[in-house]
Amino acid sequence: MVDGRLSERLPDFPWDLLAPAKQAAGAHPGGLVDLSIGTPVDPVPAVVREALAAASDSPGYPLTAGTPELRAAIAEWTVRTCIAPAPATSGPSAASTALGQGLGVLPTIGSKELVAWLPTLLGVGPGDTVVLPLVGYPTYEAGVRLAGATAVRTDSLTSLGPARPKLIWINSPSNPTGKVLPAGHLRKVVDWARERGAVVASDECYITLGWEDEPVSVLSPEVNGGRLDGVLAVHSLSKRSNLAGYRAGFVAGDPEIVSELLAVRKHAGLMVPDPVQAAMVAALGDEEHAAAQRAVYAARRDVLRSALVKAGFEIEHSGAGLYLWATRGDDSWATVDWFAERGILVAPGAFYGPAGERHVRVALTATDERVAAAAERLEI
Ligand SMILES: Cc1ncc(COP(=O)(O)O)c(C=O)c1O
Repeated sequence: MVDGRLSERLPDFPWDLLAPAKQAAGAHPGGLVDLSIGTPVDPVPAVVREALAAASDSPGYPLTAGTPELRAAIAEWTVRTCIAPAPATSGPSAASTALGQGLGVLPTIGSKELVAWLPTLLGVGPGDTVVLPLVGYPTYEAGVRLAGATAVRTDSLTSLGPARPKLIWINSPSNPTGKVLPAGHLRKVVDWARERGAVVASDECYITLGWEDEPVSVLSPEVNGGRLDGVLAVHSLSKRSNLAGYRAGFVAGDPEIVSELLAVRKHAGLMVPDPVQAAMVAALGDEEHAAAQRAVYAARRDVLRSALVKAGFEIEHSGAGLYLWATRGDDSWATVDWFAERGILVAPGAFYGPAGERHVRVALTATDERVAAAAERLEI
């Protein structure tokens, strides 16, 4: 073993810390209700499985850049979802402008892989600063530590003074809080970053799951003024299409940055398997399954939300995404234990940064039966 293990730079893997609570919750006579990890439990849509099966005879190496069919499917989905979702306001020209100026697109092995390696792929390293959300998905920080750079957690860029970070991560809708950043806020972030030559990476994994709030992409002309320089949007099919097991994500945005990512990734073996690329084409081209899955989550969310409120929790933010961000003002680990006594496993807010220490994150990803069981147990 070489000196100075890379793993020593990394924090304890958060989910390992939840093992005792999981064991306690699992002892409930009605069995465990696991609302901790946002892992999909509903079937992979038939249209996607058929596409995967049809592409299973795949003896050759896949293209790092993605097949032409996948690149076109990503561009089309991104234009209709992120760039010009409402033709009445954006006008049909928004889509053609974006495509005309060359939207960069690149498939990734799920989005976690890109989140963990983006600082490294961009050449960010020791002495460089990366800005992360105050409360956020732990892999942002893991990626910064892997690159040997320094993470600064803040939601207010003005607090950074004259600093010149290399990369700014934003995440709307947020994991874990479900908070949506309005277009005006995103525009300020993009302007601020452009003035300082920083890249804005916007993790938009939950963009199709807006409830009370309507998420806006960093690729929207309303945010970036119709220019893609310095902006990347990170997307995933894990939640929209129940494809967490396939590892299917992509990045879209500034064509120069995306081609730099491709140039490095080609050497690093970071390619999406061909059958998964075919499955992604089918998933991106079909909105019907995504709408049906969304409705399933909306119903589970209603059940959990009202049960939590009845049990005395305040739900903060949570206007979009796959989680309810709940608090009774107590320490997050104490609240995890309170849920575990009822056979329910939730994630402590402390996983997501010190500012989350008084909250827990409740995921909508359990079957209807388990969600109903959780609601019943919360009444007692
Ligand atoms: C904010 C955020 N980004 C990225 C990911 C990674 O998702 P995946 O690797 O499945 O695309 C997750 C997973 O939960 C997430 O919550």
